[in-house]
Amino acid sequence: MYRKSDFFTIIVLVLVFEQTGGMALGEDCTSTACTTANAVCPATGTKTCTCATGYTQQGTACKADLGTACTTTADCDTTTAATDVCDVLATPAVCKIKSTGDCTGKTDKCVSGAACTTNACACYTKYKENTDKLCATVLGSTCTITADCTSTVANSDCTGTGTKTCTCATGYTKQGAECKADLGTACTTTADCDTTTTTTAVCDVLATTKVCKIKSTGDCTGKTDKCVSGAACTTNACACSTKYKENTDKLCVTVLGSTCTITADCTSTVANSDCTGTGTKTCTCATGYTKQGAECKADLGTACTTTADCDTTTTTTAVCDVLATTKVCKIKSTGDCTGKTDKCVSGAACKTNACACSTKYKENTDKLCATVLGSTCTATADCNSTVANSTCTGTSGSMTCTCDAGFTKQGADCSAGAAGGATGAAACLVMIMACIFTNIL
Ligand SMILES: *[C@@H]1O[C@H](CO)[C@@H](O)[C@H](O)[C@H]1NC(C)=O
Ligand SMILES: *[C@@H]1O[C@H](CO)[C@@H](O)[C@H](O)[C@H]1NC(C)=O
Repeated sequence: MYRKSDFFTIIVLVLVFEQTGGMALGEDCTSTACTTANAVCPATGTKTCTCATGYTQQGTACKADLGTACTTTADCDTTTAATDVCDVLATPAVCKIKSTGDCTGKTDKCVSGAACTTNACACYTKYKENTDKLCATVLGSTCTITADCTSTVANSDCTGTGTKTCTCATGYTKQGAECKADLGTACTTTADCDTTTTTTAVCDVLATTKVCKIKSTGDCTGKTDKCVSGAACTTNACACSTKYKENTDKLCVTVLGSTCTITADCTSTVANSDCTGTGTKTCTCATGYTKQGAECKADLGTACTTTADCDTTTTTTAVCDVLATTKVCKIKSTGDCTGKTDKCVSGAACKTNACACSTKYKENTDKLCATVLGSTCTATADCNSTVANSTCTGTSGSMTCTCDAGFTKQGADCSAGAAGGATGAAACLVMIMACIFTNIL
């Protein structure tokens, strides 16, 4: 016997069954699959639909536990703990404990950007609680003045028209909650550099101005000026230049100062260097030379070919005295010679602490002291006022001081007759040579 109500119930159940096409939580699933989201039919034991691992039954639904993936907070088990929230700021989004929520015994379950501090989730510095009680990065959050951003995030700025937001300052790129230095931006350590955009970025601590650069061997395509100091971008990769050597940090250190076994280890790349030291030997500059950058520069009194060979860093007025018989680095005319009275260029003397060309010498454009003889003149007085028996000769516009007829140039002077007290055939030869030197060469 069926009552009318029973019949109605059966109809409803059939309709529900047809709509769902399977079994709900707690129902037998021996032959029919479970339909409730995140419910499973146990492989062993009683075959009734139950919530899968990571989910808890709340009413007729399976709700995500802390740590389980979610799309919205409605997916999370907010019955067990009302402070559960879907941390949509995390990747992937999972159910977590809201900012300020109790995290006792669940210290690893606070939302991203938060830590469990004295049993409550709290947003970290550089993070800010939003209306959903999630911890959003200060970067991207609204601000009024720059200090709203810089107070927690270094190298940030408050920018935008209308509603302003915290952004990274020029030269910096957002990486997580921080502003990281771009290539070419100042840094103290590599941790300051944006090694996400450029994995080979490094703080070039060997450079005079420490900035983020590309490591040795790093790709420098389109960034040819961004290799670390001492390196060049060669066929799209940074490579240490000659006179430099890659160190363990992939920076390019000078060969000078690096370890060596024999002198050739140093001199093969750095001229005038040496391999010295007791125990561990290092490349140093040879005696008479001083390290300037990656090179050994000639000291005052050391042989040179051009001024580029001289140490013009220690002595800015150093010059290669190419007018001297033996070319050595000396102090220019007018240069300070305090304590270095014997280091003025040839034809000059150290007078009251400054090198000055002597009588019979004239400062040239290189600040060397050239003999008046051979230098330009407009009238004889320009010559014989300092050098006896000299005259101003030549064609107008290119006249030079030369010795009078019967006199020959001897250093800075015009001497009567032949040079150097030579006699006989030698005297004749010297006179002819002097004549050729003065008038032809
Ligand atoms: C220089 O030469 C001119 C012309 O020969 C002469 O008049 C003058 O006295 C000379 N001066 C000196 C200082 O010798
Ligand atoms: C050479 O110069 C000296 C000094 O000016 C002068 O006394 C002398 O007469 C000159 N000699 C000749 C040959 O011009």
